[in-house]
Amino acid sequence: MKVTIDPQRCQGHGRCYDLAPELFGEDDEGYGRVLGDGVVPPGEERAARVAAANCPERAIVLAEEA
Ligand code: F3S
Repeated sequence: MKVTIDPQRCQGHGRCYDLAPELFGEDDEGYGRVLGDGVVPPGEERAARVAAANCPERAIVLAEEA
């Protein structure tokens, strides 16, 4: 699984890095950003889904890898 944040949608609500700080961080202005290359380590899929479900802007995109 891979996560990305759509910067057009992110309004800086910060739910992502509160709920899944192992996957997301914040930039200087409080907007979310994906840590590293966005590949979700085994065992953190649930955290990624929780973060995506809690983003009020639906800015977090999950991509299931084949
Ligand atoms: Fe942005 Fe959503 Fe996170 S609005 S800061 S991606 S919770």
